[in-house]
Amino acid sequence: MKPKIYITRKLPDAIIAQLSEVCEVSMWENEEEPVPREVLEKEMQQVNGLFCLLTDNIDKSLISQSSQLKIISNMAVGYNNIDIEAATEKGIMVTNTPGVLTETTADLTFALLMATARRLIEASDYLHEGKWETWSPMQLTGQDIYGATLGIIGLGRIGEALAKRAKGFDMNVLYYNRSRKFVAEEQLGIHYVDKETLLKESDFVCVLVPFTPETKNTIDQNELALMKPSSVLINTARGGVVNEDALYKALINNEIWAAGLDVFEVEPVPSDHPLLKLPNVVALPHIGSAGINTRIKMASLAASNLIEGILGRIPKHLVNS
Ligand code: DGY
Repeated sequence: MKPKIYITRKLPDAIIAQLSEVCEVSMWENEEEPVPREVLEKEMQQVNGLFCLLTDNIDKSLISQSSQLKIISNMAVGYNNIDIEAATEKGIMVTNTPGVLTETTADLTFALLMATARRLIEASDYLHEGKWETWSPMQLTGQDIYGATLGIIGLGRIGEALAKRAKGFDMNVLYYNRSRKFVAEEQLGIHYVDKETLLKESDFVCVLVPFTPETKNTIDQNELALMKPSSVLINTARGGVVNEDALYKALINNEIWAAGLDVFEVEPVPSDHPLLKLPNVVALPHIGSAGINTRIKMASLAASNLIEGILGRIPKHLVNS
């Protein structure tokens, strides 16, 4: 008998075929809506493997209901949606999908930085709304990117990939990280500074830390107060690493110039959220890794992780070894 697995959202056929070779697969077929809690609870009681997304809250109570679960395979590099401690206590493996989304997420981060700095959405709306009547010297002017200073908080894979892009724009790249990365400094020509210096000196601040209890509100009122009034904040990590109330206040009080956000404390962010009303906020629906090939690679890697675990082997991308 094949081991049973549950997939919490419809996946491409090729990925289902990959999993079906080894497992008996059942799946939440709805592409647009997350699996309801009660369905997930029922499935958790009978499956050996779970293939889930960052939208699924795999908390302690859910994990405690599983009796035969060997592995939770998350189709994301971040895994703050899973209670790792509870899974580990029950001897359940948890895996993620690092590496395959690095470049695509760095692309989106830089694209968001450019769109925010150069007011692309606002300018496009201006044109579409018939407001463009003449060219004038200071019309829709934004912040210069070439040669500016970029501060990266959290120099993991995506941070390094972002630094490479910034170097192509002759930016001065500062970074702050839990540990210094001497090889990256040498190879990329970037500079380690403390968080306060980074916030004070950067024209652009990108937060790229994973979301943990320690990184919650990495950017809060005090951090925003240190930033330049002309600076731009970019968050493509997780909503909780920036305090949204503090960010809103900093934006309306002109403490910083603009923000580009791909992630929110609550997702989907309610359409009446105050931040969405501000013209100097460029907001995206968590699309950092949304390249067609990248998403297929992520799904395939999550499937391979799950198969490894279900066959009793140690998956390469185990996060709770
Ligand atoms: C991740 O993988 O954690 C991203 O947020 C979505 O790709």
